[in-house]
Amino acid sequence: MDTPHAVDNRLHISCPVAVLPRFREDVIAGLSAARKSLPPRYFYDQYGSELFEQICQQPEYYPTRTEAVLLRQRAAELLDLVGACSLVELGSGSSVKTRLLLDEYQRRDSPMHYVPIDISASMLEESARGLIADYPRLSVHGLATDYLSGLAALPPARQRLVLFLGSNLGNFNDGEQAELFGRLATALQPQDYFLLGLDLRKSIPILEAAYNDVAGVTAAFNLNMLRRINREFGANFNLSQFRHLAFYNRDQHQIEMHLQSQLAQEVEIAELGLRVFFAPQETIHTEISRKFDARQVAAQLRPFGFEPCARWTDERAWFLLHLFRFVGR
Ligand code: AVJ
Repeated sequence: MDTPHAVDNRLHISCPVAVLPRFREDVIAGLSAARKSLPPRYFYDQYGSELFEQICQQPEYYPTRTEAVLLRQRAAELLDLVGACSLVELGSGSSVKTRLLLDEYQRRDSPMHYVPIDISASMLEESARGLIADYPRLSVHGLATDYLSGLAALPPARQRLVLFLGSNLGNFNDGEQAELFGRLATALQPQDYFLLGLDLRKSIPILEAAYNDVAGVTAAFNLNMLRRINREFGANFNLSQFRHLAFYNRDQHQIEMHLQSQLAQEVEIAELGLRVFFAPQETIHTEISRKFDARQVAAQLRPFGFEPCARWTDERAWFLLHLFRFVGR
């Protein structure tokens, strides 16, 4: 389904692959499995994307703030290195941090092209409209889909800088990460750049607090997955019978989020013809958020043709911006 609609001559949004059919399959597979799970990309319906923006403003959730400081500090240095690139962003969300780079391009009076890829069409359109209004030399071609479909549909460009910020990579397990790096290598050309924002390993109480904010926004974000399934597939999840769980798995170096059934219950997902039984305390695993070792990620990228070219961290070494140059495979 490709339904581009020109909203403005500098703004173009297309939806190369529809999200809903896969959501349906993923819900059936994930809730029929012995260990129940749902992929984190489905958090981001309109309300979920808004809740995520609120998470980023919670005092406990340090990654967004830490990365934004780094981007502001390093934007000039970064642009000196990469030059006039077309920006591609995986999981662009509100594009608030991207503005820090666009500001620097604007200071240089450079023409700018931006290709945000985001699974939330409403968030993508809203943020793209805001950018067009604020940056007169910017054109935007948004792709409202998942990362892999977006990468397969990239418009041609002479030189690209691909942004993968916010430690979004943390949602991927090893296999998914390798698949993403492979697809990225296929989509890019030699001399393109890749800027990766990574949340680094640190003390467990700090990590666990970031996913258990006192205001309960992360809990609401997690539970919204069930609300979305109720709405889109006519399910009857009772949200008050599930609890948000988030804890650090030391062996895997990752935060895990789950939704835990507080009692034995059966849930019906009418439009999928599915009945799902939950034992007391049984969980649905909804997210991993891996915490990184910088050298390890660089070693994992190298076989795909990415060479490290610069790295910037904050004084506490909580977060890392790592720039790679794609040299081809
Ligand atoms: C957007 C995947 C980077 O893992 O920290 C925030 C999502 N989940 N709080 C993360 C999230 C709960 C976030 N990422």
